Amino acid sequence: MSSDEIKDAIRDKVKDKYGQAALRVIATDDTGCCGTVSSRGSADPITSDLYDATQTCGLPQEAMAASLGCGNPTALAQLAPGEIVLDLGSGGGIDVLLSARRVGPTGKAYGLDMTDEMLALARENQKKAALANVEFLKGEIEAIPLPDGHVDVIISNCVINLSGDKDRVLEEAFRVLKPGGRFAVSDVVVRGAVPASIRRSVELWIGCVAGALEEREYRDKLAAAGFAAIEVEPTRVYKVDDARAFLAKAGIDADAIAPEVEGKFMSAFIRARKPAP
Ligand SMILES: C[S@@+](CC[C@H](N)C(=O)[O-])C[C@H]1O[C@@H](n2cnc3c(N)ncnc32)[C@H](O)[C@@H]1O
Repeated sequence: MSSDEIKDAIRDKVKDKYGQAALRVIATDDTGCCGTVSSRGSADPITSDLYDATQTCGLPQEAMAASLGCGNPTALAQLAPGEIVLDLGSGGGIDVLLSARRVGPTGKAYGLDMTDEMLALARENQKKAALANVEFLKGEIEAIPLPDGHVDVIISNCVINLSGDKDRVLEEAFRVLKPGGRFAVSDVVVRGAVPASIRRSVELWIGCVAGALEEREYRDKLAAAGFAAIEVEPTRVYKVDDARAFLAKAGIDADAIAPEVEGKFMSAFIRARKPAP
C-alpha cells in the first residue's frame, strides 16, 4: 500500500467507527439529568468522568452520551468572551457547546468533523442547547475549511491521534490560528520508548487507530509547524491493569509487559502558541 492508501484506509476506518458510535447514541433513549458524565460506562478508564456536573448542566444528554474524548480541553483552555474557537473532530459537539457558552454571543464556536452521523447528532444537540453562536462544519482536520488567521483558540479532544497525517493537521491548525492564537488540545501521548508490538496493542485498547505520538515527537512536530511555548501536561495516566481483559483477548500477558508499559501511556493537555509578529 502507498502512504496515501494507508491514510485513506485509516480515515475510512475512523469514519466507520465513529459513524456507528453516533448511531448508537441516537438509538439510545437516554434521558438522564445533570450528573457526572461517563460515556462508555463508569468503568471506562479513558472517557469516564471527564466533565463535572457544574459544567455540563443544561447541555443535551445526547451531547454528553456521545462524549468520546480523553480529556476536557475547555476546562484547561482559557476562553474569553468574544473569541473564536475551533474544535478539531467535534463528534457529538460537547466541547463546542461548552466553548460557545464561554465565548458568549459576541464569540463563536466552530466544530469540524468528517463523519456525517456525528455532524447530524451535533447539529441536533446545538438545536436542543439553543446556542446561536455555534457552527458545525463538514471536513477533515488535515484540510480545515476556514481561511488563514481566522481563529483565536484551537481545541480538540482525543482526535489528533486518529489522524494518519499529524504533520498536516498541525500545519493546518497553525494556518487558521490568528497570530498569538492558542492551541489547547487533549490527546493521547506516549512518554518514553515502548517496543513496537506492545505499543500497538495498548494503542488499540485506548482506541488510537493511527497511533499516538511520543511526547518528544509531538513537541518536535508542533515546533516544525511553527508553534512556540509548547507544554505537555499529563491529565490521566493509564494502568496496565485497566487493559488486562483486552490484552488477554489479544494473547498478551499484562503482567509480562507491565514493566515496559506502566506509566507511559497517558492523556495529556497540550498547549502551544502561534507567535505574534
Ligand atoms: C474520539 S471522537 C472525539 C469526539 C469529541 N471530540 C469528543 O470529545 O467527544 C473522534 C471524532 O473525530 C472525528 N474525526 C476523526 N478523525 C478525523 C479527521 N481526520 N477529520 C475530521 N474529523 C475526524 C470522528 O468522526 C469523531 O467524531
